[in-house]
Amino acid sequence: MKTGCNKTTGCNYALPPSIFKQYATGNNLKSVRNVITFEEQAMKNGIWILCLCVWIAGCDQGNGEPKVNGRWYAQSQVNLGKKVYAENCIGCHGGNARGTFSWRNANPDGSYPPPPLNGTAHAWHHPLGVLKKVINEGGIPMGGKMPAFNDKLKDDEKLAVISYFQSFWPDEIYNAWISRGGLN
Ligand code: HEC
Repeated sequence: MKTGCNKTTGCNYALPPSIFKQYATGNNLKSVRNVITFEEQAMKNGIWILCLCVWIAGCDQGNGEPKVNGRWYAQSQVNLGKKVYAENCIGCHGGNARGTFSWRNANPDGSYPPPPLNGTAHAWHHPLGVLKKVINEGGIPMGGKMPAFNDKLKDDEKLAVISYFQSFWPDEIYNAWISRGGLN
């Protein structure tokens, strides 16, 4: 839509040239009425577009679910992650991702017991990409004990299980993770 300008009437915002011409040249009521109708219509359209934008902005990508307050994930991801965790991780990392009691002490072979993932150990030092890599590759190539889940879990399950153990992180830890570039 072009803005119409004219020496005598000045500029008219956002009127299509045909209607602007009618408005600028004709003095009869009908042409003014047309302009009003057009403006009213434009306003109604604008309101609809505004509603649509607000609706889209309030939604999560994909399934229309909002994110958990201040976090990158939605509640449905945490729920799926809980299931994935119970089936694949709980045996080593423990209930509620609290890890093993002696995770700080090396085993006789130099490897370490499964650490907590609930925000009390080091998991929050790793950005999302590294957490995913640990899940994909495990720790065995680095002399550790964790098995690889690359082929055992789907991509959305890997992200979901991360969101699950992150749901135990206090805001303080989560925000520190974000400011270290956690979403990278
Ligand atoms: C057989 C036991 C075992 C299983 C099963 C296991 N882990 Fe681990 N995990 C470990 C150990 C042990 C480590 C420490 C590094 C190593 O030895 O590989 C670890 C490390 C990690 C780390 C890095 C933590 C840090 O502080 O750097 C993450 C993240 C992790 N595991 C997530 C998971 C997830 C998610 C699952 C389930 C999909 C899982 N693990 C399943 C044993 C396990």
